[in-house]
This record gives sequence, structure tokens and C-alpha cells, in this order.
Amino acid sequence: MKNRLLLTPILAWGLVLACPTLFTAAMAVPRECAVVGVGVLGSSLCQQLLDNDWKVIGITKTTNRHDDIMKQVGGDHGGKFSLELADDNLDKKYPYCVFCAPPSGFDDYPAAVEDAMTKLWDQESGGVFVFTSSGGIYGPGDSSGISTVNESSPLPDPSDNPRSARLMGAEDKVRAGGGTILRLAGLYTLDRGAHNFWMGKEEVGGRADGIINLLHYDDAAGSVVAALQVEDPTTIKGQTYLVSDGQPLTRQQICESTIKSDKYSGMKIPKFTGQDSDPMGKIYDGSATESALNWRPRYPSFDEFMAASKK
Ligand SMILES: *[C@@H]1O[C@H](CO)[C@@H](O)[C@H](O)[C@H]1NC(C)=O
Repeated sequence: MKNRLLLTPILAWGLVLACPTLFTAAMAVPRECAVVGVGVLGSSLCQQLLDNDWKVIGITKTTNRHDDIMKQVGGDHGGKFSLELADDNLDKKYPYCVFCAPPSGFDDYPAAVEDAMTKLWDQESGGVFVFTSSGGIYGPGDSSGISTVNESSPLPDPSDNPRSARLMGAEDKVRAGGGTILRLAGLYTLDRGAHNFWMGKEEVGGRADGIINLLHYDDAAGSVVAALQVEDPTTIKGQTYLVSDGQPLTRQQICESTIKSDKYSGMKIPKFTGQDSDPMGKIYDGSATESALNWRPRYPSFDEFMAASKK
């Protein structure tokens, strides 16, 4: 009798010590993420996840760029990074999944996004599915003035705007399936983005004073990482976010910032041929997104990025 009484507290104490570990092990979702589409955005995302100790599977349509991607991401990170073909992956599901392939490669974009979601994502895992949409979904605005939009602003009539319609179709599938939508502003690196397309041209369409919202590719990838690592994934299920650096510029300002960089210094700024009847663009207010995802851009503005960029 005396022995039994003595044993009970010891056992109880043992359980208390063991339990936190058991609980953590049972509740922690394996940090394994499938990334569909490994272009500039996808490879920056893979790299950031690998740096945060995730296991990452990049999924592409063809093997054409596999060697380049491997180099860009910095090798297989001791077996933690692998590349697979979409077709080879049909019966494996992942707790975390990101669809960041652009619409251009698909006949039916909404169907492709839905397909990836149902086939690749383990919805019961407590993980997260992220779809990278575009702020372009809000349409170009009108000529009478600049309006500000946020994640809950109304969208244009899809029948007037095929580009928005395709994104809306994809977003609807993601929302219905419990995924998370990140609408990204105009993406750039030093070599990629609207500025790179414009510089050196004589004439470019659009108003010089039309507004463009911006986001560095690495910051776009960072916002996806923030969504994947959000403390309570149920808070972002089925939600839509708007991600930009919060420093929108006019087309003219973008060019003026661009020539501050070594790479573009001395280049000619094109003449923008837009008329007063053309749309002014919209300003993205992503402040609610920044707090929901607990995310801030690493590159505070396009202008600072360009001014700081050296050869
Ligand atoms: C979004 O904008 C609308 C209209 O300006 C405003 O009523 C609403 O509070 C905003 N939502 C957020 C989350 O900031």
C-alpha cells in the first residue's frame, strides 16, 4: 500500500514531463512544401523555405530547366530539395503547397489550380495552400482619378476583363477549397519587370502619370513564406490578401528610379503615349495584409532598391 502511494506521484510527474514533448510531436505538421511552378518567384520561394529548414519539392511541367533551377536554389541542400514533374506526383500529398505558376502556361488556369489543390494538398493536415494571384485582378481603374483598393474591394465585371476573369476563376477554386490567396503587386528584380521592358524603347503605351504598385520578387516569395509559417493556419484559410511594398510609383517615376542604378544609368526614358482618357491605375493598400501575415517587405521601395544597386 505504502509503495503504491509513493509510485503514483512519481508516475504523474513522469507524465507531466513526457507530455509536452508528445504533444509537440503530435501537433507539429511536417514542414514539407510542394511548390508548383519554379520560375523566378518559385525559385526564390524554394530558396527561402530551404534557408528556414523546410523540405521542398519543386514541381514543374518539363525537365527543361531542372539543372538551372538546381543551380539557382543552391543544389539539393543535403537531400532537402528535389524537383519532380507534375505527372509523376499524382499520388503524393503534402501538408503545405504553393501554386505560383503564371496563367500563361495553361489552357484552363482555374482547372489547373484546382487540380493541383485536390491532387497535391493534404487538406486534413492542418497545413496551408497558397495561390499567388495578381493585383491586376482589380483592373486598370478609370481616367477620372486614382482609387485605392484593399483585399475586400469589389472586382471588375469579368465579362469586360478576360485577364481578371481568369484570375477570379482560379481564386474562386482556391477560396472554396480552403486555400489562401495572395494578390501580388507588379514584381521586379534588377533585370525583370516593367522597367526592363520599357527602358531603351522610344515609345511605350500607358500614361506617364499612371500608377504601378511594386514588389520585389524576393519580397513576394517572403510573403508566401510568412503565410506558410503563420502561427495559426486556420486564421488564413479561405482568405484573400493584397501584397505590395506600399510605395506605388507612376510610370515616369519608375523610369527615373531605374536610371539611378548602375545597370540602367544613362539609358533613355521612353515617351509614354497614354492619353488623358486612359486609366490612372489604382493604389494598393496592403496594410491589413501586413498585420495578418506579420510580414514587411525587405526592400522598402523600388526607388531605394534601384538607387542602391551596383554592378
Ligand atoms: C477596405 O476598404 C474599405 C473601403 O475603403 C474599408 O471600408 C475597409 O475597412 C477596408 N478594409 C481593410 C481591411 O482595411
